[in-house]
Amino acid sequence: MYQATQSAFILTSRGAGFLTTRRIKSFKCFVIGAVIINLLLFLSLAWKNAPRSPLSDVMNAGLLDVASNNNPNEIQPKRPFELGLPKGGASLEATSGWTIQEQEAVRKSACSYRTAVYMNNKHIDLNLPPFVHHVKSMTCLEGGEIAIFDDKFVKFNNVIIDSSKITNLRKGGEKMEDVWNQSEDEEYLKLEPGFFKASCLNPPVFNFPPADHLLEWAKSLQCYTANETVLSQYPLFTGTTLAIQRYEYVNLYHTMTDFYNAFVLMLIFGVPPSKLNILAVDAHPEGALDPVWKTLFGKFFRAGHLKEPTVFENLVWGLLGYFSPLNEHERTEVPYLTEFREFFLTRHNISTDHAINCDRLNVVIIWRRDYVAHPRNPKGSVVRKFDNEEEIVQQVKETLGPGANVQGMQLDNMLMQDQLHVIAKTDILMGMHGAGLSHILFLPATSGVIEFKPEYSNPALQHFKAFAYWRKLPYTIWHNYDTNNEKEFHKTYIPRDIVKKTVTEIFQEICKTVR
Ligand SMILES: *[C@@H]1O[C@H](CO)[C@@H](O)[C@H](O)[C@H]1NC(C)=O
Ligand SMILES: *[C@@H]1O[C@H](CO)[C@@H](O)[C@H](O)[C@H]1NC(C)=O
Ligand SMILES: *[C@@H]1O[C@H](CO)[C@@H](O)[C@H](O)[C@H]1NC(C)=O
Repeated sequence: MYQATQSAFILTSRGAGFLTTRRIKSFKCFVIGAVIINLLLFLSLAWKNAPRSPLSDVMNAGLLDVASNNNPNEIQPKRPFELGLPKGGASLEATSGWTIQEQEAVRKSACSYRTAVYMNNKHIDLNLPPFVHHVKSMTCLEGGEIAIFDDKFVKFNNVIIDSSKITNLRKGGEKMEDVWNQSEDEEYLKLEPGFFKASCLNPPVFNFPPADHLLEWAKSLQCYTANETVLSQYPLFTGTTLAIQRYEYVNLYHTMTDFYNAFVLMLIFGVPPSKLNILAVDAHPEGALDPVWKTLFGKFFRAGHLKEPTVFENLVWGLLGYFSPLNEHERTEVPYLTEFREFFLTRHNISTDHAINCDRLNVVIIWRRDYVAHPRNPKGSVVRKFDNEEEIVQQVKETLGPGANVQGMQLDNMLMQDQLHVIAKTDILMGMHGAGLSHILFLPATSGVIEFKPEYSNPALQHFKAFAYWRKLPYTIWHNYDTNNEKEFHKTYIPRDIVKKTVTEIFQEICKTVR
């Protein structure tokens, strides 16, 4: 329900007055930018020459949980993942009117972004909504030290993060068993002013939408004066760090919105995946999806684990998961999903190729089972389970014939790499409404999807219909409205003829051109 409200909000949040303010701001920014460009050059040179500790020392000096989070084996996919600039560097377009010569200086500005990148030698134009609107509405402040992208995400140069300004009892990353029954509220950081310090004369004016945690982050942001602050006294995190606050951190659907947002920001800022560090500004205990962050991107660590004030060379305040285009199910398109699939699979060393064989279809049925995933559900009760798992498997086999490879699997207790290994070769994905169906994003382009919903499930929830639609995959849904099919322990009986009908329908769709 929260999500639906959020999506509706996004559509109405761009008033005319808002845009006018924005234009004035951009103009001001341009003037200030032009005046301060020399100063910026000077500062960036001064910064370059300042003594700095190597990253590995900082990791050891600045973090409490080095052993668990500082993986000495930098993750390298078999096919190296590559991200580059198009030739000529033509993609730097912070503000129109800057000349080629100025681009060298501008490169150090927080206000630069890419309009195109190469990913695995493929050219991607970053010209699609909604992100193209976010970058085009960028406001450049403080001579390029702060860039506000449409009040959706923000990039800073040289932010000091002071974790002593966190008032929470727990710092995050605990074992689940140590924090049973901890309230969700305790897992969101309460930040005193000065948690974030940016180089500015006046704290920027943000217009973040209501309910965005960036409102809280903005309240904790103070300015330091660049000419009076010796940054080299602090440990330094070089490169780009994406700060995020995660919601529903063990839920694959919601975490997918965070993964996707991080992926697109990685493209926009032109950072290679292993060089994009992820800073969790939350106090969630350890979750089963935490390791996926480290596989996809660079280091993953928690703000509560920084031992002393630390400088982040480039810090991005990320786009809130609920505000991701992936969570706006009424959208007709979500950009870069093919690239996101390739990124996600490649980073897990999984091949993106699959040739469908309609005589030997691979069918995966996702089993939802009771499973302890977070401290607020110690019994691990899960709703929307199948009542007749074996019968469903039998019926799918009968419908598709002996060549079909039909497997029922509980995906959420498998390693992500093992899940993807299966999904990347799955021709028909079936499952009850649930986060596991987020794997639709990783299916081959020739696959189809069957979703089931119990009587008590809200028909307005269109998460996976939307995912399949955006990926142009055949999709069908059966929603039970017969009370007799609802059994105890939230199990739903799926009649054989329904299995046969839905599987036949999807089979005909995916195999109509191939056969
Ligand atoms: C992918 O393969 C590389 C090289 O063999 C290895 O170092 C890396 O750990 C693998 N990644 C994953 C997620 O298994
Ligand atoms: C957690 O809460 C449940 C129900 O409120 C209670 O039965 C259980 O003993 C609590 N567990 C711990 C470790 O406090
Ligand atoms: C630093 O810059 C600020 C703002 O421009 C100025 O007010 C202050 O006097 C400067 N301090 C020094 C030591 O130059």
